[in-house]
Amino acid sequence: MREFKNIGIIGAGSMGIGIAQVASTAGCKVFLYDNSIDSAKKSLNNLEKILSRLIVKQRITELQKQQILQNIKIVSSLNDFKNVELVIEAIIEDLSIKKELFRKLEAIVTPNCIIGSNTSSLSITDLGSVFKDPTRFIGIHFFNPAPLMPLVEVVPALQTNKNLSLEIKKLLQQWKKLPVIAKDTPGFIVNRVARPFYSEALRIYEEQIADFSTIDHAMKEVGGFKMGPFELMDFIGNDVNYAVTVSVFKSFYYDPKYKPSLTQKQYKEAGWLGRKTLKGYYDYNNSVNHNPSNDDALLNKIFERILALLINDAVDALYLGVASKEDIDLAVTKGVNYPKGLLAWGEEKTFNWVMNTLDDLYATYHEDRYRCSAHLRKLASKGL
Ligand SMILES: NC(=O)c1ccc[n+]([C@@H]2O[C@H](COP(=O)([O-])OP(=O)(O)OC[C@H]3O[C@@H](n4cnc5c(N)ncnc54)[C@H](O)[C@@H]3O)[C@@H](O)[C@H]2O)c1
Repeated sequence: MREFKNIGIIGAGSMGIGIAQVASTAGCKVFLYDNSIDSAKKSLNNLEKILSRLIVKQRITELQKQQILQNIKIVSSLNDFKNVELVIEAIIEDLSIKKELFRKLEAIVTPNCIIGSNTSSLSITDLGSVFKDPTRFIGIHFFNPAPLMPLVEVVPALQTNKNLSLEIKKLLQQWKKLPVIAKDTPGFIVNRVARPFYSEALRIYEEQIADFSTIDHAMKEVGGFKMGPFELMDFIGNDVNYAVTVSVFKSFYYDPKYKPSLTQKQYKEAGWLGRKTLKGYYDYNNSVNHNPSNDDALLNKIFERILALLINDAVDALYLGVASKEDIDLAVTKGVNYPKGLLAWGEEKTFNWVMNTLDDLYATYHEDRYRCSAHLRKLASKGL
């Protein structure tokens, strides 16, 4: 396997600096470029503070802190990427700005340099189309915060060299990450199969079946999820979460399964983005007041409805070759901290139960969002 020792990172925002920390902790030399040098310096200062806190918590030593910081060098021009073996791009999520950057970058790096993008929602194949040699380009999708979240989705474009995914997977394992390989389809694995966790919770609220705290309570108490959907949307930010939903919806040619919620759109419009604005579905100015219902039948109904949609999407992703069974389950347990893999959960509840739950919803609503995956029916018919 070729060595990736010198890593270029473009964009020193929350993801870029996190990826820089991961690579430098693994002993790589990191060259960090941001078109705002002030942003890069600010991010590095923040990292210094984070590392100091890790010393207090006895997670790293002073020497390790110094090594991590010494390995990261802020550079003022892309020309400083002449000798890197791998570049990971983590700039603003904008197709044309990323494409322009890649055109410039390819003229600077060596012909052997591998180029990765941390995009969450853009097509890797489309981004790859700007390269003279697109075989060297691949999606390397970290989760936020990159140093803490083990999962990384490796996403080859249609044009990517066939061996590159495994090479990047091995590198990420050396970086102590848990890589999974995903097909270049909207949302890759996590941002696709996790959509019903948010959208069905919003739908249940819109139908006035339950309030935010009851829905959150159902998912945590009955389902064992660490956070409820509304707590999680407030944590991610309603602007970011809504933008991902819109992007996935458009990329699937407006499949109703992925339809965004008007409620979330309005929360975004009002600037009620969640924790970062101290107001979202909950008010963070005051101590968060959760007053959920304890009606067991209601809590169970909410949990089962959301779970059935999640499992259905995971089965569909498997059916359509988005990823292997193992990788789909790893992606949700390690990327979004679900208590169980969705396919394993489907086996446990039985796919027949999932199918019946969806068919009941379909019979009530006659909406395509409740359609069963053809593969789910097949699994159910086998008595699984
Ligand atoms: N934030 C997340 O939760 C998350 C998770 C996974 C992937 N991503 C993806 O990672 C990428 C970065 O996201 P982020 O949250 O770190 O963004 P961010 O806004 O925190 O940081 C982006 C950085 O890129 C810099 N930048 C913008 N245009 C540039 C250019 N042309 N050249 C060089 N630098 C430029 C900005 O100055 C900024 O410092 C996006 O593609 C996003 O979709 C984000």
